[in-house]
Amino acid sequence: MAYDGKILARVRDIIAERKNDNVSELNLRRAEVFARIPAVMEIEAEITGLMAGIATAALNKSADAGEYVAQVKAKCEALLERRSELLKAGGYPENYTDEIFDCPLCRDSGYVLGKPCSCLKALYQAEAARELSQMLNISGQCFEAFDLSYYDEIYDPAWHDSPKAMMSCAFNICRDYAADFRPSSVNLLFRGGTGLGKTFLAASIAKVVSEKGFSVVYDTAVSVMEAFELQKFDRGGESAAEIASRIRRYLDCKLLILDDLGTEMTTSFTQSALYSLINGRLLSGGKTIITTNLSEEELRRRYTPQTVSRLEGEYIALNFAGKDIRAIKRERGLK
Ligand SMILES: Nc1ncnc2c1ncn2[C@@H]1O[C@H](COP(=O)(O)OP(=O)(O)O)[C@@H](O)[C@H]1O
Ligand SMILES: [Mg+2]
Ligand SMILES: [Zn+2]
Repeated sequence: MAYDGKILARVRDIIAERKNDNVSELNLRRAEVFARIPAVMEIEAEITGLMAGIATAALNKSADAGEYVAQVKAKCEALLERRSELLKAGGYPENYTDEIFDCPLCRDSGYVLGKPCSCLKALYQAEAARELSQMLNISGQCFEAFDLSYYDEIYDPAWHDSPKAMMSCAFNICRDYAADFRPSSVNLLFRGGTGLGKTFLAASIAKVVSEKGFSVVYDTAVSVMEAFELQKFDRGGESAAEIASRIRRYLDCKLLILDDLGTEMTTSFTQSALYSLINGRLLSGGKTIITTNLSEEELRRRYTPQTVSRLEGEYIALNFAGKDIRAIKRERGLK
């Protein structure tokens, strides 16, 4: 699993904060217990002294170190036993003054033997999902909520099929694509008019693929191009480092959803930025889903031949058909 730097930094902060809270809590507990049962403090001081003795013995490599260690160990156990009794008598759990960990596996470090702990992975997953849901309404837009009744069954000679049959097919392709997402998956190009469910199905895929642990980034073409422009022309606002990390996410994520291609202002700069994004992702192996209202003809007119040839050669096109679902919803609402 590849970790996004920005999300990982946030996850590490969360873990560090937990650790801090646990240290503060422990300090409070110990202060209280030591005030109420001074013998506990004395026992702990004695144990600390004994442990220091072991360290010295180990350093001196004295001949009878083994026996000495065994003796100290027995003494410590007796002292700990005594401490437990005192704590219990005082109404506390017997480990009340021991270190506290949210995750005993990694002792709140996030790593076990240099590898990410399960707690870090779970937190990362949650943060990645939160990040995605800030960009995209994935709560209501999922395969389960996809309603085929919005698409009519009237045969359309232009497509040699009905919108319902086409969209049923598109739905199945998207659902299988999400379920089987892997490095060898294809890239998808969703084509069709406004309000036909392109963003809806892209969001549905994003949700499933993100839940499987892949890094998924969603953004509109307008916002992606704006990031490239900010990087190039440094127009203030977001800091250069933030822009750089945003662009790295567009390039490095396992699945990028580039929504509404064609709504951005097209200049020779955005044309070449789009080419380097599309081509860069083909080279890095990340998968991309592009949605657009533009027809094949319009795509050719607006973008460079290199870009169009990548879109035609490396993307599977799915044509969306039907009537604007926003309008249908409004009508149904009025009835
Ligand atoms: N198959 C569907 N079932 C239920 N709601 C849908 C469906 N397709 C689209 N919608 C809803 O209709 C509206 C327009 O869909 P959207 O995906 O944004 O269209 P597009 O991206 O093609 O312009 C949104 O509110 C969306 O949630
Ligand atoms: Mg859309
Ligand atoms: Zn852990």
